[in-house]
Amino acid sequence: MSCSAEIDRKFMRRAIDLAMRGRGRVEPNPMVGCVIAKGERIIGEGFHERFGGPHAEPNALAACTEPPQGATAYVTLEPCCHTNKKTPPCVPALISTRIGRIVVGCVDPNPQVAGQGLLQLREAGIVVEGPVLEAEARQLIAPFIAGVSFHRPYVTLKWAESADGKVAGPGGQRMWISNERSRQIVHELRSRCDAVMVGIGTVLADDPLLTARGAPVLRPLLRVVLDRELRLPTGSRLANSQEMGKVIVYCEQRIYERETEKRKRLECQGIEVVAAPLDDRGVPQKLSLNSILSELGKRNVTHLLVEPGPTLAGSFLVEGLADRVWVFRSPKRIQDPNTPRAATVPKLFIETGRGSVMDDTLLEFLNSRSDVFFAPVTSADLLLM
Ligand SMILES: NC(=O)c1ccc[n+]([C@@H]2O[C@H](COP(=O)([O-])OP(=O)(O)OC[C@H]3O[C@@H](n4cnc5c(N)ncnc54)[C@H](OP(=O)(O)O)[C@@H]3O)[C@@H](O)[C@H]2O)c1
Ligand SMILES: [Zn+2]
Repeated sequence: MSCSAEIDRKFMRRAIDLAMRGRGRVEPNPMVGCVIAKGERIIGEGFHERFGGPHAEPNALAACTEPPQGATAYVTLEPCCHTNKKTPPCVPALISTRIGRIVVGCVDPNPQVAGQGLLQLREAGIVVEGPVLEAEARQLIAPFIAGVSFHRPYVTLKWAESADGKVAGPGGQRMWISNERSRQIVHELRSRCDAVMVGIGTVLADDPLLTARGAPVLRPLLRVVLDRELRLPTGSRLANSQEMGKVIVYCEQRIYERETEKRKRLECQGIEVVAAPLDDRGVPQKLSLNSILSELGKRNVTHLLVEPGPTLAGSFLVEGLADRVWVFRSPKRIQDPNTPRAATVPKLFIETGRGSVMDDTLLEFLNSRSDVFFAPVTSADLLLM
């Protein structure tokens, strides 16, 4: 590799690290970082710091310690050129500062940009190069890619399992498998997602609240239950906590029409009940995950956290609809054959990282066949854990 290619990689790596500093505050926007350099010397840095705030490029330009004319700007994502948004486009700003060269991490998947930004920069006489560290740059914006290119959320499944692969206490009883810090990490992850989903099996067993406790909540969290027969108890914590976030229950069309009283009771509690089609494969019949994901996409859910029992996890994994899996593995042993076993992570999910969380281990797997995107690169969530 030539020396200048090495410098490009080094500064793109730096731009990616800067981008990650926006994690938790920019979503559902993508995390973006920018480094402005003259040769091997950085003269300005910036990143997209919060949703609705200035983009990485103007932040880096404003931070320059000397005029940026003729400098190289390293940006993790193609600079934007569209105007129907909160902030002015970055391409004209870069052109007017007479930047000499732009190196990008990846092209913007947003159809309103999709190479147009790079074209305008080239037409203005700026040298455009890249992609550099494309896998890392795309991994950084995976939920954004899912939303703009596939109109469905990026799907993370997470569960906790014991050393002997169980997901509940002896006899299936409710029990904390993972430790306190692991559970806090889950609350933090919830706060960065648009929606959290469970199957009715988990609601009946655990009566969860599914809120992001002890974590800064910067955007509304939608709580979603898959419940074909509308079994959600009106006395459950989910049904009695509307002030903590909206709850949507997906049920079968036939039940929606037939069980009007039950439905109206839930609706009176502020719950939105939505009829969803059935998946035409398999017995027993299940709600179609594909349809539900598209429906959530229409509600601008870009990142969905699924906290499944083994049944719902199995459906997502078999249907190839999970993009990422997080397993918190505890050293505890349950040693009861009657306790439900965790789903098996299929081989096409590649382990992309692991970290210690006190005495638990968090394992990350990415779906190598994900239609959104796959690269064997650890996600920012795990790197910043
Ligand atoms: N350790 C952990 O991290 C963790 C996390 C969650 C749960 N759990 C444990 O797991 C156990 C519950 O697991 P579970 O497997 O019985 O329940 P589950 O996976 O939470 O829910 C399964 C139910 O969801 C409904 N569902 C609707 N659409 C579905 C679809 N497309 N695919 C699959 N299910 C669909 C089905 O009921 P209908 O047909 O009625 O709709 C199904 O029976 C409890 O013991 C709980 O404590 C552990
Ligand atoms: Zn921009």
